[in-house]
Amino acid sequence: MNTQILNAQSEHDLKAAADLIRSGELVAIPTETVYGLGADGLNEAAVAKIFEAKGRPQDNPLILHIAQPRELEALCHDIPDSAWLLAELFWPGPLTMVLPVRDIVPKRTTASLDTVAVRCPKTESTRRLIALCGTPIAAPSANRSGKPSTTTAAHVLHDMDGRIAAVLDGGACEVGVESTIVDLTGDIPRLLRPGGITPEELRQALGTLEVDRAVLGSIANDTVVRAPGMKYKHYAPSAEVIIVEGSREAAARYIRRRFEAHDAVLCFREELSLYDGLNPTAYGSENDAMTLCAGLFAALRDLDTPDIRTIYARCPEGGGAAYAVRNRLKKAAGFHTVDAEAEA
Ligand code: TXA
Ligand code: MG
Repeated sequence: MNTQILNAQSEHDLKAAADLIRSGELVAIPTETVYGLGADGLNEAAVAKIFEAKGRPQDNPLILHIAQPRELEALCHDIPDSAWLLAELFWPGPLTMVLPVRDIVPKRTTASLDTVAVRCPKTESTRRLIALCGTPIAAPSANRSGKPSTTTAAHVLHDMDGRIAAVLDGGACEVGVESTIVDLTGDIPRLLRPGGITPEELRQALGTLEVDRAVLGSIANDTVVRAPGMKYKHYAPSAEVIIVEGSREAAARYIRRRFEAHDAVLCFREELSLYDGLNPTAYGSENDAMTLCAGLFAALRDLDTPDIRTIYARCPEGGGAAYAVRNRLKKAAGFHTVDAEAEA
């Protein structure tokens, strides 16, 4: 298959993308979080192609993307007031809500769960595309399963060229990590994945929020988890990733002592000079976790080459956007963390 490159700024190209999706093809779409691998979310055969193109396990359900918040009603039932409140505060935007699913949604999309994940993305061209399709677009992140999510059209092509009908190029994604997922089907709202909307913002809006243990802990593959995707190895380049915790100086000492040819350093911009001679990669500023979100996946992809064996990574502390970065980096590292202060 020849993968077309379409321009998200062109109405002509948006119509071409909508035609492809309506006829059951796959089109990668830009969103403010990451690129999505889009298909008609109500067309079972089209959705099946997503799993095939990604190499995605069948038990991992998809997010449905809608053009307008009110379209939630066609897909979900028993929608609590809290969902409408969150929609008003954070949609369109990087928030996904899990709610009871209506029969209109195929089992392939939900992996046979009785709930469905729905998001209204902020990217205007993508909402225009969804409206042109007249159907919700099911879209997981547009990467091969297990690899870092894609934040540019070039990264999408790297993973998906020849496997999908088109990629809609909308430039680099603004947020850089996937949406926050909150499950609203229980008595207490539950955070299933941290992202662009912070736990603090959700707690303030909802009054209460539980954090699923899959968020920052390691989960065995046979464990039942609320967001099935959270149990798989994720976001990982081919190299081994080791998170080095501790002060700047202790971490630099620790890494310098162990660094060998074929290793790499992934650090904060402020730390670059500490790794002179080791060709370090900075993914953002420690003082601005949003920049770390925006740069993380691109940096992990840059370091995903067969000749890099170990990546020593620095990980931000604290809440807000740093929480989402830590979640992704810990998964990329398979939860392999060392304390430079204790082991220097
Ligand atoms: O920002 C995003 O959310 C991006 C863009 C494209 O919108 N999409 C994305 O999709 O990250 P994906 O498939 O890579 O991650 C979706 C996560 C998976 O962990 C999946 O298991 C979980 O959402 N999920 C989907 N439906 C669910 C449901 N009904 N209940 C619980 N978790 C669900
Ligand atoms: Mg993904």
